[in-house]
Amino acid sequence: MRQEATALPLRAEGLRFAAGGVEILHGLDFSLVAGAPTVILGPNGAGKSVLLRVLHGLLEPTGGTLRWSLPAEAAQRRQAMVFQRPVMLRRSVLANALYPLRLAGLPEAEAAARAALDRVGMAALADRPARKLSGGEQQRLALARAWALAPEILFLDEPTAALDPAATRQVEEIIGAIAASGTKVVMTTHHLGQARRLAGDVMLLLGGMLNAQGPAERFFAAPPTAEAAAFLRGDLVW
Ligand SMILES: Nc1ncnc2c1ncn2[C@@H]1O[C@H](COP(=O)(O)OP(=O)(O)OP(=O)(O)O)[C@@H](O)[C@H]1O
Ligand SMILES: [Mg+2]
Repeated sequence: MRQEATALPLRAEGLRFAAGGVEILHGLDFSLVAGAPTVILGPNGAGKSVLLRVLHGLLEPTGGTLRWSLPAEAAQRRQAMVFQRPVMLRRSVLANALYPLRLAGLPEAEAAARAALDRVGMAALADRPARKLSGGEQQRLALARAWALAPEILFLDEPTAALDPAATRQVEEIIGAIAASGTKVVMTTHHLGQARRLAGDVMLLLGGMLNAQGPAERFFAAPPTAEAAAFLRGDLVW
């Protein structure tokens, strides 16, 4: 389904975002490249969700540049985002999985939707009302719905925020499978264990600034800044 041209790498230079006279992102420089997930870490209020929204095109940067390797509109069509509290249509699980596929005009949409549900272990729940699902099931449905479109880039904002350990593991497995299928995952999380398990590279955002970034293995083994070390110890005062 994916064509030859790619939207990645994405290059951000001096990326800024301000709202209501307050600057939230203070000039970020980074690149997102294809490969294992990029995990954005940082304390509450650091600007992680705002950054994801800016990257996904839901918020317009107020400064700097954000350059996809394709024209912005083409890049936009290759991305999907799953929010912390996914929005479910007041319809069945299957109808929710079908909706974006029909919108995209995909042939064989129902078969694709059923296959997507199967990939996340939700096939047996296809006829249930989506809004009655548990939080973990809703998150899996949201991932199935996004994955069904085979996006080149998938933004996930705290995909396991309110989930118990078992549901968290299930969602992590799905994220791993999505990444293995060739989709670039860019996600935020407060679970450091999850970041270790999933991340190819890490960005640490503190107060709207990038404090550290780099390959995950190095970041966790030898935190590159004093703040990163304190953050990993759980005693960063910010
Ligand atoms: N549209 C907006 N207008 C004004 N301020 C905003 C807006 N959106 C977010 N903020 C502020 O920007 C800052 C960063 O918010 P953001 O939601 O990105 O943090 P976060 O890193 O995702 O935090 P958390 O870990 O709690 O989810 C916060 O101080 C927030 O109040
Ligand atoms: Mg957030």
